[in-house]
Amino acid sequence: MRTQVAIVGAGPSGLLLGALLHKAGISAVIVEQRSADYVLGRIRAGVLEQTTVELLERAGVAERLHRDGLPHGGIELAFEGRLHRIDFKALTGKHVTVYGQTEVTRDLMDARTAAGLVTVYDAENVSVHGFDGNAPRVRFRKAGIEHEIACDFIAGCDGYHGVTRASVPAGAITGFEKVYPFGWLGVLADVPPVRDELVYANHERGFALCSQRSRTRSRYYLQCALDDQVERWTDAAFWDELRRRLPDEVAQGVTTGPAIEKSIAPLRSFVAEPMRFGRLFLAGDAAHIVPPTGAKGLNLAASDVGYLAEGLTEFYLDKRTAGIEAYSARCLGRIWKAERFSWWFTSLMHRFPETGAFGRKMQQAELEYLVGSAAGSRSLAENYVGLPMQQVVPG
Ligand code: APR
Ligand code: PHB
Repeated sequence: MRTQVAIVGAGPSGLLLGALLHKAGISAVIVEQRSADYVLGRIRAGVLEQTTVELLERAGVAERLHRDGLPHGGIELAFEGRLHRIDFKALTGKHVTVYGQTEVTRDLMDARTAAGLVTVYDAENVSVHGFDGNAPRVRFRKAGIEHEIACDFIAGCDGYHGVTRASVPAGAITGFEKVYPFGWLGVLADVPPVRDELVYANHERGFALCSQRSRTRSRYYLQCALDDQVERWTDAAFWDELRRRLPDEVAQGVTTGPAIEKSIAPLRSFVAEPMRFGRLFLAGDAAHIVPPTGAKGLNLAASDVGYLAEGLTEFYLDKRTAGIEAYSARCLGRIWKAERFSWWFTSLMHRFPETGAFGRKMQQAELEYLVGSAAGSRSLAENYVGLPMQQVVPG
């Protein structure tokens, strides 16, 4: 088999890259180790920046997003028993769109099927070769038969635990990492969201987040210990603890119901530099992880593949290599800004083992500054709605 770009991984990064390349007339094959149902079963984040929406529009997969996505013009911060709204619209002129990553993935999968494009699911023993020279190849086994795809470029869109980053020679890559001393316990439930907008709560018992997927489906999170276990949390215990961490006026409005999904995820910051090795490009979670507090994971994945699709399009259509040569630096400029914001917002909102009485006072003082000053509010709003990306989406 031969293709122009072999994409490893069919998460949002791989699928969106495939869609953008298809629009540009560039052929690609996606190789994914799991089944399509498994990929769709993973519950992930659900806040899209305007730039991400524009890339999905460009890929031709934004119809359902425009119909069902919920525009949010702000978020609420809760601390010391009070609620404060950060008005994105007034501060930045922009909004974010609440639309689940699962739905983005489903739309991309459906568009791929409709266009007759190839995704190999359930691929075993995926390996990448020859990307330091001129003959990159992706090998895998499927139903007992060995396959090889010859290509011009490989896109490593295979997530944090994938094979592509691990295949780069030691020493050619530097990883920067911070592991946080807590996790998030998440619950998905078919109950109406407690507020119209997301509520981020700083509480002495730990952080809580009220998020949503639609007007009838809510997503809630609680900061928990790293060694905590999902089985330990009955639905009743989860709802009780959530209400304890919210201001009364919010807690009283929470509609409870059976959890349809419950899981614990650790929090991590990670960046791999550089993101290109010869003819292999890393994108999305394969190259970086942010703690979910800033809602940047999916948006960074989208901007990476936006830059990559642009670079590859220039290469094939205009015979120019400037875009692919600038790929890593362009992505990393944006990534480190999002890393800083996600780390800062995580530090501000969570209870750390070392926080102590002074640390809590500092968090409260910073939150007061944030909600009480135009500069503080604007900085939070600008970072949350996302920075502009004119290079990728002109105009
Ligand atoms: N071979 C083939 N596919 C692989 C391999 C492998 N060796 N290893 C992992 N994969 C697949 C995974 O099964 C998964 O479907 O790569 C895909 C990677 O998808 P994601 O982890 O969703 O990563 P990405 O597409 O970059 O999306 C980033 O997901 O984790 C969230 O917060 C993150 O929202 C962000 C988004
Ligand atoms: C979510 O809805 O899953 C979500 C929203 C905002 C975040 C993190 C997760 O910051």
